[in-house]
Amino acid sequence: MLLTVDRINKSYSSFPNPPVQVLHDVSFSLAPGQALGLVGESGSGKSTIAKCLMALAAPESGSILYDGMDVSKARGAELLRFRREVQMVFQDPYGSLNPRMSVEELIGEGLLVHKLEPTAARRRERVAEIMRTVGLNPDDMVRFPRSFSGGQRQRIAIARALVIGPRILVCDEPVAALDVSVQAQVINLLRDMQRKLGLAIVFIAHDLAVVRHLCDSIVVLHKGRVVEAGPRADIFERPREAYTQALLAAVPVPDPEIGRARRERRHVLT
Ligand SMILES: Nc1ncnc2c1ncn2[C@@H]1O[C@H](COP(=O)(O)OP(=O)(O)OP(=O)(O)O)[C@@H](O)[C@H]1O
Ligand SMILES: [Mg+2]
Repeated sequence: MLLTVDRINKSYSSFPNPPVQVLHDVSFSLAPGQALGLVGESGSGKSTIAKCLMALAAPESGSILYDGMDVSKARGAELLRFRREVQMVFQDPYGSLNPRMSVEELIGEGLLVHKLEPTAARRRERVAEIMRTVGLNPDDMVRFPRSFSGGQRQRIAIARALVIGPRILVCDEPVAALDVSVQAQVINLLRDMQRKLGLAIVFIAHDLAVVRHLCDSIVVLHKGRVVEAGPRADIFERPREAYTQALLAAVPVPDPEIGRARRERRHVLT
C-alpha cells in the first residue's frame, strides 16, 4: 500500500470548552495509482482527514504510513520528499491561488522550492508542458489568476500540484465551487492524470455522484466514523448501510442500472 491510515483519532479543543472528538478510529488504505473517494456530509471530518494526510495536523492516536514512513514522525529529507510526493488541491480556486502571482510563477513555484529545475528557462518549459497537459494554453502563463474562469483556475491549481511529480493528489472538494458542466471536465481531467501519470488520488466530496466516475474505491464517513468502505461497484449497487443508501438516494444518478436498483429497493421498502 502507498498510504495506510490506521485507526486515527483526532479531537479539537477550544478553551474553555472540553475537547470534541471529530475522528474516531478512521482506517483506510490507498494503493499506488488508485483513486479513493472520501464521502460524507458537512462536518463529518473529511477536511480533518485531509489535514492529517498532509501532515498539517497530527492525530492523537493511530498512524498514517506513507510508503512505509510514519507521516507524523517524518523530519528533514524524509519530510521534504513527503511534501513533494503528496500534493493537495483545495475546494476554492479563487482563494487558493495568490492573485499577485502570474500563472508561470504559481505553477513554477514548486519547481523552485524543491530545486527541481536549475534555470528559469527550464522551469518555463516545464510550466508550458504541464499547462498543455491539463488543457491550458501556455501563452497564458503571463496572465494572473483573476483573468481565468473557475474551471481554468482549478486547472492551474492541478497543474501547480502536478508539476513536481507527486504520487498522491489529495483533492478536498475540488469541484464543489464549480458549475455542474465544468465539474465533469475537471473530474475527467483528474481521471486522465490518474491513468497517464499513475497518480493515486484521494478525492473528497459530500456527494456520491461526483466520485462515481473517478473512484475505484469509496469510504463513507459519518460523524467522524467510517460507516462503509469498499470497491465502487459494491457501494453503488449494494450499499449495506442506511446512511450510504440515504446519500445515494439524495443525488440524482443518471444511470439506468442504479435507477433500477433504487426503484427495486424502494419497492421492497414500501
Ligand atoms: N480548527 C478547528 N477547531 C475546532 N473544531 C474544528 C476545527 N476544524 C474542524 N472542526 C470541527 O470538526 C468537525 C469536522 O470538520 P471538517 O472540516 O473535517 O468536516 P468536513 O467533513 O470537511 O465538512 P465540510 O463538508 O463542511 O467541509 C466539525 O464539527 C468542525 O466544526
Ligand atoms: Mg471540508
